Amino acid sequence: MTEEISLDLGDRKCSILVGRGLLGDIGKLVPGKNRRFAVITNPTVNPLYGKQVLDSLKKHGHAHVLYDVPDSEASKSLDAANQLYVRLSDAGFERDSCIIGLGGGVVGDLAGFVAATYMRGIDIIQVPTTLLAQVDSAIGGKTGLNLPGGKNLVGAFHQPVMVISDVSVLATLPDRDYVSGLAEVVKYGIAADPEVFALLESNVDRINRRDERLLEKTVARCSRIKAGIVQEDERDRGKRLLLNFGHTLGHALEVATGYETYRHGEAVAIGMLFAARVSEKKGLLKAKELKRIAELAETLGLPSQAEDRLEREKLISLMKGDKKSRGGKVHMVLPTGIGTTVISEIQDELLTAALEETGL
Ligand code: NAD
Ligand code: GLY
Repeated sequence: MTEEISLDLGDRKCSILVGRGLLGDIGKLVPGKNRRFAVITNPTVNPLYGKQVLDSLKKHGHAHVLYDVPDSEASKSLDAANQLYVRLSDAGFERDSCIIGLGGGVVGDLAGFVAATYMRGIDIIQVPTTLLAQVDSAIGGKTGLNLPGGKNLVGAFHQPVMVISDVSVLATLPDRDYVSGLAEVVKYGIAADPEVFALLESNVDRINRRDERLLEKTVARCSRIKAGIVQEDERDRGKRLLLNFGHTLGHALEVATGYETYRHGEAVAIGMLFAARVSEKKGLLKAKELKRIAELAETLGLPSQAEDRLEREKLISLMKGDKKSRGGKVHMVLPTGIGTTVISEIQDELLTAALEETGL
């Protein structure tokens, strides 16, 4: 059964729908009558789900066009955004038109940014098709483009009016992208909700064979957690920062390897284990809890060690550039148990010792 989660920001509301087989009903689910939609997707997702979405929009009286962007992190660029602005403007899209972002986090971040800025902001509906996007990136209104100097350096907060997460589409995800998305689910389990952690622990087989009912429950639960956090701290100044668990080293790894070695979730998985090791060394996390985290990561196929050694000073310097750092010191989200975290300052010697244990 479809679950509806409401993210209420007072003057703006986002309805998050989680269910199975929702794409075929999208024309009925979207708000508005006889509306104009621009569906932004990519050449991987389009042949799988584009027709289903367009047919449903048409069936329910909506006009539509579909724009493909290359299937690459490089599509999160001002160039790609500019090309979409021109296409939208040439096609006569107006203030009351709506963009649909149909794809993973890359398509969602680009489509969201274009919606945030075209005509000073038009509606966006996110239709995430990766696990990572369903549990994380499609929810909460962060949009971002990359600059040569770094990731997500240009962006805007622009809440979608609706998120439609159809877990049936996860069946076609490549294994690596599926496992990468699981990292963000584990993140919720460690940083926010021990029940998510326990759900994963006791259902490893079902998770690994992508059981749709369990995925529906898991995506809905994570969406509810994220909606609650964003409702409390939309602008990432307090509680939302805990969603950054695993990202201090994770982002540093992505930057240090030019985004070529790790999927986002893989880097976050290594970063979460690293943070757990730091926390255990600081006496904040029990050794048995560190072991529990490492065991779950392993059974889900998540990496806990780096592929190759990297220059340690560079990694530490990148971590010092993280948004949580202050006064030249690394501040990280550390687990203090399963489901609880603190943000704590970390001395360089501790970082070095934990990097060594992470194979870095
Ligand atoms: P992605 O968008 O690159 O998708 C991964 C791959 O899966 C792509 O090749 C894509 O075409 C393919 N794909 C998507 N859906 C599919 C399906 N159902 N079947 C088969 N193939 C499918 O990667 P991602 O992991 O979804 O997202 C990563 C991006 O998200 C990064 O750019 C990251 O910065 C961003 N992100 C944003 C936020 C946010 O809050 N805005 C949060 C986390 C991550
Ligand atoms: N992905 C982290 C956040 O949305 O804040």
